[in-house]
Parts: sequence; structure tokens; C-alpha cells
Amino acid sequence: MSTTNRLVITDEERDFFLQNGYLILRGVLQGEELRRIQQAMQELVNYGSAEVRDNPDYMYGTGPKSGKPVLRRIEYVIDKRDEMKVLLGHPFILRSVEKVIGKDFIPTWDSMVLKMPGEGIIVRWHRDAGTECVGDTPIFNVDFYLDEADEDTCLWVLPGSHLWEVEKVQQWFSEHREQDNTKEDFKASGAVPVLMQPGDVLFHNILLLHGSPYNLSDKLRRVVYYEFRAAHTEYELGPHVPEYIPLKQRVLLSCIEKRKKADYIPKEEIPYEYDPPEPFRVDWQPGTELPTYRYPHEQYWRK
Ligand code: NI
Repeated sequence: MSTTNRLVITDEERDFFLQNGYLILRGVLQGEELRRIQQAMQELVNYGSAEVRDNPDYMYGTGPKSGKPVLRRIEYVIDKRDEMKVLLGHPFILRSVEKVIGKDFIPTWDSMVLKMPGEGIIVRWHRDAGTECVGDTPIFNVDFYLDEADEDTCLWVLPGSHLWEVEKVQQWFSEHREQDNTKEDFKASGAVPVLMQPGDVLFHNILLLHGSPYNLSDKLRRVVYYEFRAAHTEYELGPHVPEYIPLKQRVLLSCIEKRKKADYIPKEEIPYEYDPPEPFRVDWQPGTELPTYRYPHEQYWRK
């Protein structure tokens, strides 16, 4: 079912996400917005893959066939392209994030991960972070698919593994983490393939076990990850210092405003109203232009 024109995920979808650690939403991005995002992100892919860039935002792995560097990830895509600012303001996504986390959510990571054709880089089984920063609400990534993901290129997940104890996770790693290299290995592990079309969205809990094999096909697969956390949890547990919270809240507010002004967004769309409770209300003057949308994580880690 298409997600276009829906206001928010249903209770059933939220409960599926809470129980399984992932949720697939079909057709969230369509038409002109999808086309513009695909084009903007292809410009970054072209730049990053033309040569190895001396820029920490462009990350490379070792190609399994050539042994040469292959682009695998690009950080801070919101700062790099206005289409990605408009995307952060997506009201169906933000209402759905609020439905899972609560009104004090903040955006944290914004990245593109990709499988280049020919020798796309493996992402071994992992959790995105440890349990030490997880409080009373889920932390999760909203993954926007810009290309089809089939069994050659897709992510594989272990439903419910976000609830596993650390010992069970370690056991899984010892049996699979270094051994699983190909799609056949991932299939044999009993994991579920996340098969997606351009414009589909995946929510994945950061504690969910997930990974993807080398891509030896000729297909490109690009996904944009926007991560969200509760401000009260970030405030208590980190990993960023408390000063990071209002900086990222202003990024969110600015992006919501940019979406209202974007000429390619349907006029009938009802904007998201960000209204976090105290003590996380933030000063914001509409029309403010931010000096940057790039707040490097390492500059805000707790000591
Ligand atoms: Ni991950």
C-alpha cells in the first residue's frame, strides 16, 4: 500500500516495529521529490567515486576483487544538498518518529550508505551502537531507498534481535560475523532480506542485528539514513554533550521551514509542527538561516 497522503503510521505498524525492530513502509517518496533526491545523491556518488577524496565525509572500503578503495558511505548529506534538508522535514516521517519516540525527538546522524556496482563493500553483522545510550524509547534509523534492493544488494535483518541480551548477540557474532560474505551465506543464516523499491522506507532499531554482503552484481544501491533519538535520553546518556541537542533541533526546525517553501512539494501536504516539551523547547525565529547543518559528532562527544 502506498504511504502517500497518510498522516502517520498506524498503531499496528508501530507495534510491529516495537516487536520486530524493523518496519517497511512502501512508496513514501514519489514523483518529483524522489527524482530530485536521486539526482542530488548521484552527484555526491559521482564526486566520491571519481577518485578517493581527501575528505573524511567520503568513506571507502577495500574492493573484494580489485583490492582498490571503493566508495561505501557519505556523511552529513543534509549539509551537502538542499533536497536533503527538505527531506528531513517530511511530515509523515516526523509524525511517525514522534509516535515511536515522543515529542522531544532530535535528528542525529544523516548519511548515505551505498553498494557500488561490481564490488560493493560488505557491511558485516552489527548493531549500530551499544545498549549504553538506549533509554526508555527506541533509537532508530529511517532508511530512504533511492534504488531497488534485491537479494544481490539488500540489507538482511534478524527480526526481534534488538531485544536480545548481549550474550546472545556475541554468540551470533561468533557464528556469523566473519563467516558471512556472500548473499548465499546471509540467506543460509536464516536472516530476512529487506527487498525494497525506490521511494520505500525502512525503520530499523539501532540494536537490530543487520548486515549486507559484498555486491558482486552490476547494480547500484543507495540508501539515506536519518537517525532519531529522544532528547531526554541524549541529555542523560549521550553520546553527545547536551549542547548538541538545541543545535540539532534548530536544524530540524529550519528543514521543516525549507520544506514549506519547496516548490516541488505538494501544496496539500500538512507540515509537521515540532513542539518538544520543557526543558527541550528551543528558541527559533522563523526565517533564521543557519550557518551550518553539519555538526561533526566527534566535536560533541562526551569526555
Ligand atoms: Ni547499521
